Amino acid sequence: MFEFSFSTHVCEKNYFASEISTKNAIFAPILLTMKKQEILVTAKSPSNIAVVKYWGKHGCQLPNNPSISFTLSNCFTETSVEYNPKFQCGMQFLFEGVESPKFKEKIEKYIEKHGDLYRFDTEVFSHLKVESRNSFPHSSGIASSASSMSALVLCFLKLEKALNDDATPLDLRRASMLARLASGSASRSVYPVMALWGETPCVSDSSDEYAVPLENMVAPVFKTYHDTILIVSNKEKSVSSRVGHALMEGHPLAEKRYLTARCNTKRLLEALRTADLATFIDIAESEAVQLHELMATSNPPYKLMEPNTLKIIDEVHKFRENTDVPVCFTLDAGPNVHLLFPDEFSEKVNVFINDKLKSYCVDNQYISDIVKVF
Ligand code: PMV
Repeated sequence: MFEFSFSTHVCEKNYFASEISTKNAIFAPILLTMKKQEILVTAKSPSNIAVVKYWGKHGCQLPNNPSISFTLSNCFTETSVEYNPKFQCGMQFLFEGVESPKFKEKIEKYIEKHGDLYRFDTEVFSHLKVESRNSFPHSSGIASSASSMSALVLCFLKLEKALNDDATPLDLRRASMLARLASGSASRSVYPVMALWGETPCVSDSSDEYAVPLENMVAPVFKTYHDTILIVSNKEKSVSSRVGHALMEGHPLAEKRYLTARCNTKRLLEALRTADLATFIDIAESEAVQLHELMATSNPPYKLMEPNTLKIIDEVHKFRENTDVPVCFTLDAGPNVHLLFPDEFSEKVNVFINDKLKSYCVDNQYISDIVKVF
């Protein structure tokens, strides 16, 4: 899913400490001691787009309903974490080379609440330099919390391994659980293809605590899916997802919504298994509209869609009716439209985007992404 790389400043090769000690017995103790003084780990983790949406939570970042998403390839975050006991000014955080107090505060809050879940002394966190960058443009309106928080958690887990000389493979379920505590949707980003987060009787090992992979439960066509993100606005959202989730508490439609989402989860799992594209389209579009209806009926109400969001939706409906191409839309908590379609229709859809949809986008901008398959 993510690319694993591990290096230290004292040893050019990507060895774990245990490997060093067996490969180079005489120097091993020295290298080990030195290695623990300076460790650099990196991780790359993708964004995801939910088909059944997570909207509303309780307790310690637990979802009020299950959600299902596609994992993306091109929209990702790359993060590096450098540990050096000589770093004495607390954790340093750079986003795309520049200090970002807002994101740093988010990480610090996470560490304060959940840092003790990692198998190293929490003191380590105050000797870190964290650097992060996104593959997608900063102000493209793409939610980056799933990719950025999962990349950060993967780095912390690699750091944990390095500090404990642990060469066993990364436990993705634990990674998902730790990512969930940072950002709910991040729990799904640790798996390729598709993931389910939240307990449902349809999947035996599903849980509210972590996401599970759906790779082996989906028909081949879904592994070819494209997600083309039409950038209707690149401004920062007026209402954050954090506030949106909170507004679901006491929302008049909350209980109905959670029931619908549970039912859509069941129906979607079946549609994914049987390659039932008509049901897939029906669920994807109604989930997207419902998410925005919940915003419109919150107290206070708000809207994140723009006039061009609705114009694109109309065009997609007309195109599908006229061509029978199984393209549909979904929306995240923002105005940008995600077009979902199987690869075999990509030529036709690309012509449609260029002819009809591009003009609704800021500076004709869109991002072509595709499901991550490995
Ligand atoms: O993970 P959060 O707290 O940023 O919430 C994400 C919510 C949606 O993106 C709107 C839906 C989802 O399931 O990803």
